[in-house]
Amino acid sequence: MSPTLLITGGTGYLGHHLIHAAQSWTTHATYFRTSPPAASRAQFHQCDVSKNDQVHDLITSIKPDVIIHTACSNKSAEEIEAIVPAARHLSTIAHQHSLAFLHLSTDLIFDGTCAPYRETDLPNPLHPYGKAKTEAEHIVTQQCPTATIIRSSLMYGIDPLDHQTRWLLRGMDTEKPIRLFTDERRSPIWVHTLVAALLELSTLNFQGILHLAGPETLNRWEFGHAILHLVGRKTTANIHASTIDESGLIRPKDLAFSIETAKQLLNTPFLSIAEVTNQLRKGSS
Ligand SMILES: NC(=O)c1ccc[n+]([C@@H]2O[C@H](COP(=O)([O-])OP(=O)(O)OC[C@H]3O[C@@H](n4cnc5c(N)ncnc54)[C@H](OP(=O)(O)O)[C@@H]3O)[C@@H](O)[C@H]2O)c1
Repeated sequence: MSPTLLITGGTGYLGHHLIHAAQSWTTHATYFRTSPPAASRAQFHQCDVSKNDQVHDLITSIKPDVIIHTACSNKSAEEIEAIVPAARHLSTIAHQHSLAFLHLSTDLIFDGTCAPYRETDLPNPLHPYGKAKTEAEHIVTQQCPTATIIRSSLMYGIDPLDHQTRWLLRGMDTEKPIRLFTDERRSPIWVHTLVAALLELSTLNFQGILHLAGPETLNRWEFGHAILHLVGRKTTANIHASTIDESGLIRPKDLAFSIETAKQLLNTPFLSIAEVTNQLRKGSS
């Protein structure tokens, strides 16, 4: 019998891709406010993962072998508020029932002043989202010492388009200026790479923090243009190079990630955007 996987956030971007790829698992997934797809290979359950009684009922009825906790990102203040209680409830019950627990965290726990970031570097978040994810990491480590904490970077993908690319393409169809920062550096990861790495990790007994990001670091201007090339679009006159300083925003500038540990641990290949683009071109020719 195939092992049972529970994906929290099955209606989210990463959750959607995980469900699709987890072919060798019996898959359950949660949704909260978004209706789940009418047809899915996962069995969906409505659950507010920030509520202990709902988490308890869910886990005791499904009895998963592995939980991949993707729910709760940065879409709204309400969602950010759910990050800490959700991490507490899920990691506590995972430990009580000896379940493998994979918790999604973010590069935004760092302040961007000491890149490239390794797993041992100390968080210093600048915003409520990063602060909540930092606290969640502490709680998960305390409540479930065997857990895997995955810190990731910007996720990109085309089927469907990721949140950032959708924002960029929508903006290009308007007259409004789109500013892409040349002084904000990230290590974006192809969503299929992240999914393959997470599913591979689900079969290993890796404990502790792991950075899963792309193999290269690009500024937002370079990344925006690489994405346009990936989706076969030409730049438009309303896309401008700009800087965080010019915007007056406070954001981490350099969130380059070191992924050496992940590369040594996993068989999953970490593809650059150029490699992803070539692979897609070959697939469509
Ligand atoms: N996207 C990125 O570039 C990125 C980068 C680094 C790290 N991450 C991390 O990766 C994970 C997945 O990100 P994503 O972009 O795939 O997220 P997403 O598309 O924004 O989806 C968020 C998911 O969380 C669920 N959710 C929110 N509040 C909930 C609650 N109280 N109870 C249960 N479910 C709740 C949502 O369910 P409903 O829609 O049904 O309400 C949705 O399925 C997150 O933990 C995020 O912090 C993302």
